[in-house]
Amino acid sequence: MLWQVNTTDERSRNLILIGFMGTGKTTIGRNVAKSLRFRFVDTDQLIRKKAEKSIPDIFAEDGEAAFRQLETEVMTECAEDSNQVISTGGGIVTEEINHPILKRAGYVVWLKASAETIYDRVKRNQHRPLLQVDDPMKTIEEMLAQRESLYSAVEDLSINTDKLTLEETAFGIVESTRLALQLA
Ligand code: S3P
Repeated sequence: MLWQVNTTDERSRNLILIGFMGTGKTTIGRNVAKSLRFRFVDTDQLIRKKAEKSIPDIFAEDGEAAFRQLETEVMTECAEDSNQVISTGGGIVTEEINHPILKRAGYVVWLKASAETIYDRVKRNQHRPLLQVDDPMKTIEEMLAQRESLYSAVEDLSINTDKLTLEETAFGIVESTRLALQLA
């Protein structure tokens, strides 16, 4: 018997990418969307559009709670649509209210990477307010430890990307999504 992911009828036909900052959700998401012929959407991008300002400005002027509120709003809106690859912000799982929204939205894939890989990918980037600290490596390790069980609570599949190329990761996700969402 072909192994099937437990995707229930209440789920929409979307692929949702979750995972820590710097795990490649956006780059891989765009690539996978092309292969699946799904629309690519990014919750951070939708938040910027809705707030009409950058993410660092939302954090600085309105605070993280306001950012999280917007994140829940855009995720709820995305979940109503289908045939999308939805790339989410790394902290979306920190609000438990988002868990059933994520699960109902479709097939959830967790992109994993070690703290070292993440640090390497994000160190030159200034647009992540939570990592603008004296010791980003320590912050990454602490936040990863805090969030591990939260990602795990919503994922259908997890992929450790440390030793995989972008193409290998994308291929694995495309094939498992086809099975899970029963795409032709
Ligand atoms: C955040 C991750 C960011 C963005 C915001 C907060 C987080 O998204 O939503 O800076 O709490 O981990 P990326 O995961 O796309 O960097």
